[in-house]
Amino acid sequence: MRLLVTGGAGYIGSVVTAQLLDAGHETVVLDDCSKGHSESVPPGARFVRGTLREMAEPVLAEGGFDGVVHLAAKSLVGESVQRPGLYFSENLGGTLALLEAMRRTGVARIVFSSTAATYGEPAGVPIVETDPTLPTNPYGMSKLAVDTALTEHARLHGVGAVSLRYFNVAGAHRGYGERHDPETHLIPNVLAVAAGAKESVSVFGTDYPTPDGTCVRDYIHVADLAGAHLLALGACTPGSHAIYNLGNGSGYSVREVIEVCRRVTGHPIPVVTGPRRAGDPAVLVASAAKIQAELGWKAERDLSAMVTDAWAFMSGGAGAGA
Ligand code: UFG
Repeated sequence: MRLLVTGGAGYIGSVVTAQLLDAGHETVVLDDCSKGHSESVPPGARFVRGTLREMAEPVLAEGGFDGVVHLAAKSLVGESVQRPGLYFSENLGGTLALLEAMRRTGVARIVFSSTAATYGEPAGVPIVETDPTLPTNPYGMSKLAVDTALTEHARLHGVGAVSLRYFNVAGAHRGYGERHDPETHLIPNVLAVAAGAKESVSVFGTDYPTPDGTCVRDYIHVADLAGAHLLALGACTPGSHAIYNLGNGSGYSVREVIEVCRRVTGHPIPVVTGPRRAGDPAVLVASAAKIQAELGWKAERDLSAMVTDAWAFMSGGAGAGA
């Protein structure tokens, strides 16, 4: 297939692009590099620097595109609370511009990076796709708004759409890994301590109703996650919008993650406990039963592999599959 990958210079986008190229797909990356890095675009992909509003239509109008993998987005929960307008404008407004460009150029297949944040505080776990979507921050609201737009767009314009609701993505793949600034995610922050870049890691909240009092999350390896995009591209059905959770189906507490990092790095990793971070649900664990049943997707890498690959990436190595 000939594919446009928006956000292909970012952490997840670079891994998705690498796997698409490996599978023999022709790939064009569109990224404004507001967060991504041009050097993260895998060799073999054509790179266009620009925004969705400015560049999606000119690129798609070149013709011959079979589909779009849409990962470009603002994705910091805390920032979204401070600047909700930015999140609705970039995530929803940018996607509407992309959908319009697709309609005008006759591209009828899209795989979208949605998020566990669309569910908000879950009524129970594991979370299934039919659970209520009550996002607690503008990031999740903007992604849910896109999911809603995709349902209508598929119905009205015959597009085949798939939304993948990512849980906590971690790890690295073939030299492509996480380089956020600022870094808010747990695993790179813990590994920064092991690497000597920070003295200790802060644990946000120890009084949650969980076995050890810290938040529980469902971590998924970025290489497993990327593989689901390839399956989803093959599963886009004209006129329909499918939504799938993407997680491993098992939860790990913040303390358990830190323990795995200690084991992998051999570093004691000092911890400072602090108050809860606003907006963090106590437990988020996916049911991945739907994507397993319908697309045959299955996570192959566990938390230990994620930490090992993230550590290799941070230490200058390449991560899984190198
Ligand atoms: N945490 C710490 N210390 C840190 C960083 C994080 O204790 O230095 C804790 C958080 O409070 C949370 C857990 O580690 O309990 C995981 O936090 P992350 O920031 O790594 O991930 P989140 O669960 O907050 O966020 C992820 C995605 C978001 C998505 C969200 C959905 O990264 O994009 O899940 O809830 F919106």
